Amino acid sequence: MSNNKIAPSLLAADFGNLQRDVEMVNNSEADWHHIDIMDGVFVPNISYGMPVLKSIAQHATKTLDVHLMIVDPDRYIKTFAELGANVLTVHYEACTHLHRTLQAIKAEGMMAGVALNPHTSIHLLEDIINDIDVVCLMSVNPGFGGQSFIENTYYKVKALKELIIKKNAKTLIEIDGGVTSKNAKDLVDAGADVLVAGSFVFKSDNPTDTIKNLKEIIG
Ligand code: DX5
Ligand code: ZN
Repeated sequence: MSNNKIAPSLLAADFGNLQRDVEMVNNSEADWHHIDIMDGVFVPNISYGMPVLKSIAQHATKTLDVHLMIVDPDRYIKTFAELGANVLTVHYEACTHLHRTLQAIKAEGMMAGVALNPHTSIHLLEDIINDIDVVCLMSVNPGFGGQSFIENTYYKVKALKELIIKKNAKTLIEIDGGVTSKNAKDLVDAGADVLVAGSFVFKSDNPTDTIKNLKEIIG
């Protein structure tokens, strides 16, 4: 039994039927709920914030994987813990004192994640990798769902996996953006552990079957 995970991104859900879509994920073979918080400053889009996350958390039964695309995320670590986040991911590019931020996330009982934009080298994590529970490699520029996958991601996954092994770290590798049934297998073969999928799941005719299919593909 493999531990590879699928994390449907609720950004692509039908917000008029959010409870229904959260319950679809609950009742599917998905592993995590991926929740994208955007502030309109770090990324050129605004998604949803605390009150919506509160509603999601009331219905969600799986791990809440919260991806913060916001500047100065330290301001809200406690708030997201109180809202029920299990994994809290901040962007490398948004943190001046990343080590301190990660310790603060863990002190609130959450797993600490670091997301890297497509242009940010995985080698910048060399001195912090042992403190990171999840590295989220952005395979699109953050801000929007439905974009196409950036092929250089394969190289980054492999290089990051090598770094994790070299440092004897236990870090999970998550891929976020443009994941489909076409690239899922190659991504886990390269070393990915968690695949986020938004549009590919929610815009499909049968999201439950699409998740099942993705789980079969990644083994
Ligand atoms: C992008 C978000 C992603 C997004 C993925 O900024 O971080 O989580 O929802 O959506 P798809 O799978 O449609 O690329
Ligand atoms: Zn995301």
